[in-house]
Amino acid sequence: MNVLVAGGDGFVGRNVCAELVEQGHTVTSLSRSPDSSVLPDAVELISGDITNYDSIEGAFEAKDAIVNLTALPPLHQPRPGTFHDTVCIGGVMNAVHAAQEHGVARYIEMSSLGADPDSLIAYWRTQGLGDLVAQYSDLDWVILRPSFIFGEGSETFAFIKQYTTPYVTVLPAGGEKPSFQPIWVKDIAQIVADTIEEDRHVGQVYDLGGPEVLTFGEVARMLYRAEGKSIKIIPVPMRLVESALYAAEPLSIIPFGIDQARALEMTNITDHNDITDFGLEETDLMRIATYLSRR
Ligand SMILES: NC(=O)c1ccc[n+]([C@@H]2O[C@H](COP(=O)([O-])OP(=O)(O)OC[C@H]3O[C@@H](n4cnc5c(N)ncnc54)[C@H](OP(=O)(O)O)[C@@H]3O)[C@@H](O)[C@H]2O)c1
Repeated sequence: MNVLVAGGDGFVGRNVCAELVEQGHTVTSLSRSPDSSVLPDAVELISGDITNYDSIEGAFEAKDAIVNLTALPPLHQPRPGTFHDTVCIGGVMNAVHAAQEHGVARYIEMSSLGADPDSLIAYWRTQGLGDLVAQYSDLDWVILRPSFIFGEGSETFAFIKQYTTPYVTVLPAGGEKPSFQPIWVKDIAQIVADTIEEDRHVGQVYDLGGPEVLTFGEVARMLYRAEGKSIKIIPVPMRLVESALYAAEPLSIIPFGIDQARALEMTNITDHNDITDFGLEETDLMRIATYLSRR
């Protein structure tokens, strides 16, 4: 099949593109600043901004499927001039419209666990609304909602390392929050490839988690243990950190604010892991400790 991957050179996208090429598909990656160094040679690169219809419309010509992976990261406030709404709602509207114009039937939307039009956090609220745009279209849509995705180039790993130190570190609530169900990026890439191939996934919304539930502090411990370093966590009250983040909101030079304070309280776990719809069991999936030991 001819597949367009919007956000194909991002962390998840580069693994999705590699998996699709491996499975014999013809793949085009679309992003604002295409980076060929992270993609197989077979992938064609196109420049376009999903928030600008005219800049992406031509990329949909003669495609059989589109995978939309564009989003702004939730860990920091968006840079000035960028907004979750324009990417996660406006971007989906543009992609759906372009797919309809060019007769691209299969539409895969990468959302995330916790996406909810009523969420107080912009990242999850706009993803919930973007999902509705896809769901109300007449395309053969599939929506994927994974928990935190880990692997080479994971922004969450980088974030945890950036805001902790080895040996002794201070964490809100002792690192007990947030908790998540990390899933390996290559397991996600296989799931995406399956949604393109298999008609039974059309019209489904899948919540996806990895094989274990971990807290922020536990992941920090694993990352340092993999480097032969220990980490002692000193707890600070969650309320104190939240008050500081609320106070920081008006200071545009500080990349944290109310959304990040709310995200600290999140439980990003599914009680009905839909990986089984892809013929997978939790024991088939990569665990973080195993991944780190093989690096
Ligand atoms: N990483 C996780 O833990 C995780 C967990 C759950 C769900 N997800 C979802 O998975 C998807 C991919 O995440 P990721 O971690 O791979 O993100 P990423 O590394 O930040 O990649 C985002 C990709 O989208 C492109 N992009 C961003 N804004 C764009 C725009 N306006 N127009 C065109 N392209 C744009 C980026 O390239 P340019 O900047 O060059 O345009 C990049 O290729 C997102 O929908 C995210 O919400 C991720």
